Order: sequence, then C-alpha cells, then structure tokens
Amino acid sequence: MAVLVTGGAGYIGSVCVDLLRHGGQEVVVLDNLYRGHRAAIDASVPFYEGRIGDRALVARIAREHKLEACIHFAALAYVGESVQQPDRYFANNVEQGIALFDELLKAGVRRVVFSSTCATYGEPQRVPIAEDHPQSPTNPYGWGKYFIERILESYDQAYGLKFAALRYFNAAGATARCGEDHEPETHLIPNVLSAAVGKLPFVSVFGNTYPTPDGTPIRDYIHIADLNRAHLLALDYLRGGGESCFLNLGTGSGFSVMEVIETSRRVTGRDIKVKIEPPRAGDPSRLVAQADKARLVLGWQPEYTELEAIIQSAWDWYQAHPHGYAQ
Ligand SMILES: NC(=O)c1ccc[n+]([C@@H]2O[C@H](COP(=O)([O-])OP(=O)(O)OC[C@H]3O[C@@H](n4cnc5c(N)ncnc54)[C@H](O)[C@@H]3O)[C@@H](O)[C@H]2O)c1
Repeated sequence: MAVLVTGGAGYIGSVCVDLLRHGGQEVVVLDNLYRGHRAAIDASVPFYEGRIGDRALVARIAREHKLEACIHFAALAYVGESVQQPDRYFANNVEQGIALFDELLKAGVRRVVFSSTCATYGEPQRVPIAEDHPQSPTNPYGWGKYFIERILESYDQAYGLKFAALRYFNAAGATARCGEDHEPETHLIPNVLSAAVGKLPFVSVFGNTYPTPDGTPIRDYIHIADLNRAHLLALDYLRGGGESCFLNLGTGSGFSVMEVIETSRRVTGRDIKVKIEPPRAGDPSRLVAQADKARLVLGWQPEYTELEAIIQSAWDWYQAHPHGYAQ
C-alpha cells in the first residue's frame, strides 16, 4: 500500500517524500514539474510526471500502487499571480483538485492530508489566529484553498472521505537535501539570501508603516521539516480513525520582515541592501498562528523555534546549491 504525494517535487512536498521513505513507507509522486524539480526527489522513488487533473493517470497510479492515502501538496501557490490569473488558479487548484479526489474515491482511497493555508483567513480580526477564526480570503489563491476545504467537508459527509486540512503559515528553511528553488521566487527568505550573495541588488520591503514595532509586517515562520512531521502525524491520526480536522501549522511566534533581514545579516555575515517599496494591497500587518490545536490533536511540537536556526538551514542549503537544483 502506498501514499500518493502530489506536488512531491516541490519545495515542501519533496521533504515529505524523504520523511515518508525514511519511515519505511511506500511512496509514489505525481507532479507536473511546472514549479517542481525531478532532482528534488530521489531517483528511486516512483515518479509520474503529469497533472492531478488527469483522471486516467490518477486511476492508473492507484491501480499500479494500491494507494491507501494521499498527501496533496500540488497547487499553484502565488498570491499575486492568482490575482492576475484567477482562471488558472481555480482550474489548477480547484477543478483539478476535484478530479483528483473523485479518482481517489473511485479507487477506494479515503484519507487525504491537504495543504491549506492561513490565506483562507484573510485580514485577521484577532491575532494569534485560531482555527475557528472567520475565513474570508482576500485573493483567488486563498479562495481556491477555502473551496477545497469545503469540498473535502462535503465529501466526508457524503462519501466518508477523512481529511486533515493543514493551514500552513510561512513555510521556511531547508533540509540537507531539499531547499527552496522557485522561478520566479516570491518568498522573503530565499530573496534575502539572493541579495546576500549579490544575485539580487537589494531586497524589496513592501511597506514600513504598518502598526508593528518596526513598521514591517510580521509573519509566523515554520520550518519545512517541522511542517512535514505534522503531515506524517496527521496521516497516522487518520489511519487510527481520527475525525476530519482543520489544523494551523505555525510556531505561534511572529517575526517582522526587518527582523528576518537583520537575522540573515548575522547568519550570512553579508551586507544585505534593502529597498522600501509601497505596501502591497491586501498584505495584513500580522499573521501569527494560534498553534496549540495541532499539538493537542497530533501531539506535534515544532523543533525549530528560533528564526536564526531556520535561516541558517536555508543558508546552508543555498551555499551547497548556489544554482538551486539546476546543477
Ligand atoms: N510555501 C508556503 O509558505 C505555503 C504556505 C501555505 C500553503 N502552502 C501550500 O503548500 C503546497 C506546497 O507549496 P510549495 O511552497 O512547496 O510550492 P511548490 O510550487 O514548490 O510545490 C508545488 C508543486 O506542485 C506541482 N503542481 C502544481 N500544480 C500541479 C498540477 N495541476 N498537477 C501536478 N502537479 C502540480 C508543482 O510543479 C510543484 O512541484 C501548496 O499547495 C501551497 O499552496 C505553501
């Protein structure tokens, strides 16, 4: 019996594939490599290059590997892009997501761990943000994830599909083998490190007049190894008969953009130039998780609680892979 990891060639999914394999679990990856890298997955892992919306392909994978569960990472995941091209985001993330779930159900697969996001909450009314905070996304990316959550709820009621929808805050850091290599890159830490080595002339800081101590937005950074350990625990929870659930994955601590840059200066020992740009529309000032539900339900505890250690891991990977996966 195997676990299907969609988006397993991506930044977060590739670490999940490693963890599952190290735990002795059988894994199969489906990824269209639009934003992922074949080199991010060990050559020995069964890999299918294709779309999650390709029903015949999903049915074939289910037949060939006797799937028992799916960890569903595959998605387009850029907020700005989703505002420009909502049709692509809904087609890729929602329409194809439905096709995937339908084929999984036909194959008798009734356990799904889903990559949701704190973007489903929208502009927070209360911080830290708990799972029962109202959800009102402010962009098509967040709406797409919100719709998938509702679809999973309906499929649970109608078909008994059990799911864990994990609402990540800001995924960050690297393992020795896997790191962040996106084109284009929109995430803060890889861009700060690119500025540290001179690949970028400066880091853009979008707004410095937010109501935070240094005026820059505060986010909750969660290391990808911690994030993925929670996925394995969620899978075991579902295998043990756990009810479907929505869980935040964050550390519960927030760091501002300027704190990330300052810490990166210390970690890298490099000068990192900053350019203050206008604030981006819809960028909340503080997004920090109330993170105790995942601890309670899954017994999960993040090990990386220091921003410095998270950035150090990303910097180590960056130095070992100056051209990302390309080499
Ligand atoms: N990175 C974060 O901070 C963050 C935060 C919240 C939620 N998430 C979610 O976590 C998941 C993984 O994010 P990531 O940062 O690793 O992104 P990523 O772009 O590195 O990985 C996504 C992978 O999915 C693949 N993919 C996309 N659409 C596909 C399709 N239709 N069929 C097959 N493969 C497809 C891409 O090629 C890529 O390898 C996404 O669902 C994202 O929305 C990420």
